[in-house]
Amino acid sequence: MGNVPLDSALISPPVTLADVPLSRPVQLGVLASGSGSNYGAIAQAIASQQLNAEIPVLIYNNPKAKVLERAAQFGTKTQLINHRDFTSREACDQAILDCLRSHGVEWVIMAGWMRIVTEVLLRGYESRILNIHPSLLPSFKGIRAVEQALDAGVKVTGCSVHFASLEVDSGDIIMQAAVPILPGDTPETLHARIQVQEHRIFPAAIALAVTQYS
Ligand code: GRF
Repeated sequence: MGNVPLDSALISPPVTLADVPLSRPVQLGVLASGSGSNYGAIAQAIASQQLNAEIPVLIYNNPKAKVLERAAQFGTKTQLINHRDFTSREACDQAILDCLRSHGVEWVIMAGWMRIVTEVLLRGYESRILNIHPSLLPSFKGIRAVEQALDAGVKVTGCSVHFASLEVDSGDIIMQAAVPILPGDTPETLHARIQVQEHRIFPAAIALAVTQYS
């Protein structure tokens, strides 16, 4: 057996974008709160014609979110919907739903969306909302998943793309990548390696979900 690098990730199911070609450009609406590196990976997969999709709108909720810079690079239209402007989660989700629909969005991609999704959005896009989480679900749900894995002393963690559901980080899993925890890992070093895998599996998981569930 040859030497397998310790940080090589195991992706399950072992599907690549080439395995699940989409016959027409699926319309993705992206929700992002932060740096938007996952959005960037999806936009790059589209730009390089590996993922047959378009992003008619990216919704963000933090006026200073770094994702805005990436969206400008890819020429994606952005729309600020700030939850602080609404009196309830439901009212905010209704505004998001209206925006997505008005842009012809078919699938919703939560790419670092730091908000709990309500029934309003879940019903509006039933079984059409995907989320990415930095752990091997069902382990380490919720916030600080990377820190939770380090604190637990597990030797392998990773990332999961799954359907969004009312219960946080609990919907059906579409694709996962396992990432070994290395001696001396900090939350930052481990999260950086997990993100490399997130960027690999998110575009492929989108294609897989669209192919299997459309
Ligand atoms: C990712 O680690 C994702 O798993 C989690 O939030 C982070 C978002 O990163 N839900 P980015 O904004 O896509 O860089």
